[in-house]
Amino acid sequence: MKASMDHLGIAVRSLDDALKFYRDQLGLEALPRETVEHEKVNVAMLPLGEARIELLEPTQSDSVIGKFLEKRGEGLHHVALRVPDLKASIERLKSAGARLLNEPRTGAGGHLYVFVHPSSTGGVLLELIQE
Ligand code: CO
Repeated sequence: MKASMDHLGIAVRSLDDALKFYRDQLGLEALPRETVEHEKVNVAMLPLGEARIELLEPTQSDSVIGKFLEKRGEGLHHVALRVPDLKASIERLKSAGARLLNEPRTGAGGHLYVFVHPSSTGGVLLELIQE
């Protein structure tokens, strides 16, 4: 399978504050923000060649990212890989007993994705995205 790096998801308390570093000080380009309602996050994407940094700011404290910030503070939240056939990847992982966290959903940018639990991946929350 030919997968590729899609993005690093970083949980932040404030997109404005995080953009002061990543955009203004480091000098990365920032795409227009999006809100992903069902994940309760505001997202800012920062292109890095073929990959991106995804800054995630919770819109509510009871969201996945809100709870992550409360427990662990700001930091790397997940690693996202693009796969050529998401459905086939899901079937292979399921039959091998990997722990998937959701059925495929549409996220930022309109791409289908699933999350794989860190207990199956060596401790990293892994997002798989349909190429
Ligand atoms: Co992501």
